[in-house]
Amino acid sequence: MLNPRLEACAKFIKNGALVCDVGTDHALLAVHLITQGIAESVIASDIGEGPLLAAQRTIQKYGLSEQISTILSDGLVNVPSEGLTDIVIAGMGGETMVHILETCPFSLENINLVLQPMSKADLLRKWLYENGFAIEKETCIKDGKFLYAVMTVLYTGVRETPDPACIRLGKMDLTNPDCLAYAQRQYDVVCMSRDGRKQAGMDASEFEETAEAIRLAMEGVRK
Ligand SMILES: C[S@@+](CC[C@H](N)C(=O)[O-])C[C@H]1O[C@@H](n2cnc3c(N)ncnc32)[C@H](O)[C@@H]1O
Repeated sequence: MLNPRLEACAKFIKNGALVCDVGTDHALLAVHLITQGIAESVIASDIGEGPLLAAQRTIQKYGLSEQISTILSDGLVNVPSEGLTDIVIAGMGGETMVHILETCPFSLENINLVLQPMSKADLLRKWLYENGFAIEKETCIKDGKFLYAVMTVLYTGVRETPDPACIRLGKMDLTNPDCLAYAQRQYDVVCMSRDGRKQAGMDASEFEETAEAIRLAMEGVRK
């Protein structure tokens, strides 16, 4: 069975004619997409030979070699773009995701991007908005003590300067308790950085502004 984090990624697939699972590792998501009828075919890619071998073993075990192909690739560099409807990039840091999107050799227009950063989601969101991508939908998945952001993103070509709440919370609906818990955690992290800078006699105004923006967003739903 798939973990809740990957299950949330699967639910964010829109079209499913041809999905690329970047950083597939064990290929469990790829297998789930086919066996649940969410995707017709999947390209399972990974930068590492070890993970790709693990992926191939899983695919063989489930007898899905016809529907799932594997490709060794840094991000999308060696992935053929023809017919791609959705791309999932899950389980890696926000900086790696930016690298993958920056080095993508083809246009991402009209492709549904499902992004699930494990860290630095704020850095990823800021880069997305500044580089012509829009977050369409976002949620938070709680798995044990971990809170994971999962988002769908579209390339619009419109570059924007996101405000601090948007960078930290994206499109999360704070009436959802897990999203509200995510916002609270963001608030705590930002306040810690703010206090640390203040104690060191450094300028903390950016963190002050961000903390206030998150506080207001949370207050809005608690009323
Ligand atoms: C922690 S695993 C995540 C596996 C799966 N996507 C998930 O979310 O459970 C991260 C995988 O991403 C792969 N990876 C890291 N950087 C990558 C890159 N630039 N391009 C493709 N795959 C990458 C790693 O080799 C590893 O298999």
